[in-house]
Amino acid sequence: MAAQGGGALSRKAGALSGAAPAPGDKSISHRALIFGALARGTSHITGLLEGDDVLRTAAAMRALGAEVERAGGVWRVDGAPWRTPDQVLYFANSGTGARLVMGAVAGAGIGAGFAGDASLCGRPMGRVLEPLGMMGVVAKSHGGRLPVEILAGGDLTAVKCVLAKPSAQVKSAILLAALGANGVTQIHEPVLCRDHTERMLAAFGVKLGIKDDGEVGRILSLAGGQTLTPTDVSVPGDPSSAAFLAAAALITPGSEITITNVLVNPLRFYQTVREMGGDVSFENERTESGEPVADICVRHSVLHGIETPAERAPSMIDEYPILAIVAAYAHGETMMRGLEELRVKESDRIASVEAGLAACGVDVASGEDWLRVRGQGQAPKGGARVKTNHDHRIAMSFLTMGLASNEPVEIDDASMIATSFPEFFQLVSRLGGEIIARQ
Ligand code: S3P
Repeated sequence: MAAQGGGALSRKAGALSGAAPAPGDKSISHRALIFGALARGTSHITGLLEGDDVLRTAAAMRALGAEVERAGGVWRVDGAPWRTPDQVLYFANSGTGARLVMGAVAGAGIGAGFAGDASLCGRPMGRVLEPLGMMGVVAKSHGGRLPVEILAGGDLTAVKCVLAKPSAQVKSAILLAALGANGVTQIHEPVLCRDHTERMLAAFGVKLGIKDDGEVGRILSLAGGQTLTPTDVSVPGDPSSAAFLAAAALITPGSEITITNVLVNPLRFYQTVREMGGDVSFENERTESGEPVADICVRHSVLHGIETPAERAPSMIDEYPILAIVAAYAHGETMMRGLEELRVKESDRIASVEAGLAACGVDVASGEDWLRVRGQGQAPKGGARVKTNHDHRIAMSFLTMGLASNEPVEIDDASMIATSFPEFFQLVSRLGGEIIARQ
């Protein structure tokens, strides 16, 4: 059953077993479309995530001048010089699409308007507009939020900047703008975050200096004026989406599943659940399109609480909601630190998780940048209707919880699941779980 509008309910249905592929990685899918559209010539993309967020980026690339077509499961992107679009670019729920395309539009020296849904309009865009402003980009915004208009401008100047937030989206926006700037842009990244942009720029033939400087962090240097060479991209499975399936197996007695073709950069969620006692192993490890990939085998496990350090948060940021669910089944306390960025995701994820867990009978507490969950080493009560606040990861986290809790868990809105994991319902059901859509 497809995840559509309306709510949904999940309930205990016994052990999970078998194999399932993870959907295409969201971060890499956005980048493959944007980089293909910037290159001169044809790039092919296989395994693209066909979720709503990524399809919005595909539409934006068409509006900016690229030809983007799907034929027989392969996406073909013909890059062309970008032109100012006739209409405002609408990114719906997608922060990655909006922020990366802002940088790329600035680098292309054109203007464009950016809009989004209620969730995206509440999220900060100043973190991208400020560094772009230092490079000479002129933009209008709604107090640092959408709607945003980038004005077609003159020359961009390369800058030296420190990444104030450990955000791969902000870093990527600056790198994309730097492609069109005069001189060498330098970004100092004190806390390391995802490096998909760096890897894919290299795959598209762009020269990027990367200097790892121990305690100081990483320094990236990119000379403006470089052109992208088209290339073919094979998108691996998304580790953050695979984490829902892995979590379902970890908490459901008797389960043993394999999730195939998963990106294992970064692998912090899997490392963290292993530290909790999770039986998680990587098989068939390989490299695809410059990224490490593996099949992940997960068995039901007796888990114990741990403390997750703040330094781990940037690379595991999307997995905390599902980690909190896993922690509710573990023995003892799990303390998650360094989570301030969770407050500005598709919803305030600390608040959404805390409210949902409390309603399901779990001992949970939070502060501005931390979340603490105390598990009893057994299935929690469940039995609540959880508010998802337009957030796909909150929706999937609580549906996962209900696969093993004593009473079913209901969510108010399953529609956002389609932004990142359209096959979630089918794959859970293929593995033996029970989720029922409700209109
Ligand atoms: C992403 C970076 C992260 C992550 C998001 C995808 C990316 O956001 O939460 O889902 O593709 O660069 P931040 O850069 O805001 O941390």
